[in-house]
Amino acid sequence: MPAAITCVSGFLPEDKLTNADLEKMVDTTDEWIRTRTGIEERRILKDPTKATSDMGAEAVKALCAKSGLAPEDIDIIICATVTPDMLFPSTANLIGHKAGATKAWGFDLSAACSGFLFALKTAAQFVENGSGKNVVVVGADKMSSIIDYTDRTTCVLFGDGACAVLLQQDDECGIMDSQLYSDGAGGDFLCMPAGGSLRPASHDTVDAKQHFIYQDGQPVFKAAVTNMADVSFEVMERNQLTADDVAWLVPHQANLRIIDATQRRTGLPHEKVMINIQKYGNTTAATIPLCLYDWESQLKRGDNLILAAFGGGFTWGAVYLKWAYDGNKYA
Ligand code: UT7
Repeated sequence: MPAAITCVSGFLPEDKLTNADLEKMVDTTDEWIRTRTGIEERRILKDPTKATSDMGAEAVKALCAKSGLAPEDIDIIICATVTPDMLFPSTANLIGHKAGATKAWGFDLSAACSGFLFALKTAAQFVENGSGKNVVVVGADKMSSIIDYTDRTTCVLFGDGACAVLLQQDDECGIMDSQLYSDGAGGDFLCMPAGGSLRPASHDTVDAKQHFIYQDGQPVFKAAVTNMADVSFEVMERNQLTADDVAWLVPHQANLRIIDATQRRTGLPHEKVMINIQKYGNTTAATIPLCLYDWESQLKRGDNLILAAFGGGFTWGAVYLKWAYDGNKYA
């Protein structure tokens, strides 16, 4: 019995950080950001007392209200994030507490921008083998908490957001196939250098700004363009799916040029690609489910979706998903 997504609910903070705002903060232009990345604005969680778990909990509470599932009937919560509230306890734990999921166990999964796909694949195992009936995957990141807003090469790229999906067994729709990869050789190109056991927080690490995101953009860009496109094609080919068979490509939203390269490799027309990077920027683990959330009303049971991601690690992968419900189900 495949594990199917049976409900989606997102949470986006209200405050917007536009390209015009960034023009006043660093040496950049709206034109540079739009043409190099496709981003126009992002959402920022400004309240300093709120963290990733608060956004995740809002998404889970809304998911329960929407689906009719009682929070105490959630069996497992897996939270994909690179911005946990703290190193421990896990953000999944805190989300469960804040959302009233009193009977759930769970854990965090760290796979950067591929986190949602890695968590989806992991969660599907529990659903498929029957050890979890109602399993929730949350992709959530407060990227603004690890951004240096004086570094123009990274601060224009990221935004905050969260999205939760409910996974349950279905008789024929759900996750049909997936291919995930990691390569630690890419680790140094995109990381947060300090704050872990290698470089614990110290005056030196703070002075050196090592608690912010570090990215060497070009090697990451090159690896992303090749790998996200190749793995999407690989999964389509293995399942004998042509561009006509696929209803939607759901790519991680890091850069419009990377999305376009994946679209070209899969042969899908532009109209079949979910793109909301202009509104939210790169919300890391939340980008793919937030696309599903934004496009939910247009999806139909049986639609073939290809989900694809590339991110820090390096990590990358694609999931072939047969969508399980009609868009008007929750209208
Ligand atoms: O989701 C996780 C995975 N991450 C990614 O997939 C991101 C991958 N990388 C990228 O998307 C791109 O590499 C960036 C958007 C980060 C950068 O775009 P690029 O086309 O690779 O630009 P670049 O790094 O080659 O920089 C070109 C120029 C440089 O100036 P010079 O050396 O040519 O004078 C940069 O200093 O653009 C400059 N630049 C900027 N100019 C205005 C870099 N950032 C900015 C900026 N505004 N914000």
